[in-house]
Amino acid sequence: MSLIDVENLTLQFKTDEGLITAVDDVSFSLAPGEVMGLVGESGSGKSVTAKSLMKLNPGNAVYSPESRITLHLDSGPVDVMSLKRPRDMEIVRGGSISMIFQEPMASFAPAMTVGSQMVEQLLIHTDLSKKQAKELSIEMLDRVGISDASTRFGQYAFEMSGGMRQRAMIAMALSTKPKLLIADEPTTALDVTIQAQVIDLMKDLVAEFGMGIIFITHDLGVVAQTADKVAVMYLGKMIEQGPVREVIRNPYHPYTKGLIDALPQLDDLEKPLMPIPGDIPSPLERPAGCVFHTRCGKVIGDICRTVVPQWSDTGENHRTACHLCAEG
Ligand SMILES: Nc1ncnc2c1ncn2[C@@H]1O[C@H](COP(=O)(O)OP(=O)(O)OP(=O)(O)O)[C@@H](O)[C@H]1O
Ligand code: SF4
Ligand SMILES: [Mg+2]
Repeated sequence: MSLIDVENLTLQFKTDEGLITAVDDVSFSLAPGEVMGLVGESGSGKSVTAKSLMKLNPGNAVYSPESRITLHLDSGPVDVMSLKRPRDMEIVRGGSISMIFQEPMASFAPAMTVGSQMVEQLLIHTDLSKKQAKELSIEMLDRVGISDASTRFGQYAFEMSGGMRQRAMIAMALSTKPKLLIADEPTTALDVTIQAQVIDLMKDLVAEFGMGIIFITHDLGVVAQTADKVAVMYLGKMIEQGPVREVIRNPYHPYTKGLIDALPQLDDLEKPLMPIPGDIPSPLERPAGCVFHTRCGKVIGDICRTVVPQWSDTGENHRTACHLCAEG
């Protein structure tokens, strides 16, 4: 059974410079209780993909008519693309789907206390009374490891340290018990110890609430620690997806291999890091054929420069979009 199905998601932004294709024919599914890592270099379309699930992209975003997002709730399937009225949109904004952003300050209104925002959100999305909402908010702050939670409840976000704000944001995102939690680089702004705590905390909460998580990061090392499966994006395309161990041990796409070679090896610190050569092309000038061909060391001929690679099965639940795989 699936929690969310994304099919052929394609999205362009209208800009003064022209149309930017941010997401190009992306498909994936997530089951309840499953954690998917979404990785790729800056600008690959991770955040735009995630925001699409909540219809949070700005007004200059144009979705292709083939794009489909289906959220499976107990009450039945929800066709996310067809949601238009603000009231219907609440289902995917803080109700069944919650998002944790990289910069927690952005999630809190500066003129409201953290507690009053948590309560307000609960009143919108649940049947709790104001008193129950306050009790649950304090309990959630406590659960994410914020000491003296009832005092912190009455504070403003700017009165908290970075790590504490991150925890408060997680508490707020989880308090409505969403079916799907999207965490967009939730740990990059944190120091390593707090990063590890936040990751452990999220794992505990998945185990307890059974929610699905999409964990967005640049860091394949973090994905290896947190996720069941991983999807790799490059310049708007999803190019490889599969179980996390399998993809890390046995990557097929030259770009995924490049990301893995760029990871520091803890057991061999002498081994030089191998960054992927070249720069990501401008999204206004996306290469034809395989979008990675301008940086790929394995180009097998004109086919790479002219034909978009389709998915090939490269293992159990493991697939890769590269002509090399199609050729066996
Ligand atoms: N509102 C917008 N208008 C125009 N272009 C946009 C807009 N939002 C994102 N883009 C473009 O869409 C592409 C994908 O952006 P996105 O933010 O999804 O990348 P990302 O993979 O999340 O990168 P990062 O790792 O830096 O967060 C980029 O080229 C970006 O410049
Ligand atoms: S399709 Fe060709 S250019 Fe693209 S990753 Fe595979 S070998 Fe490289
Ligand atoms: Mg992003």
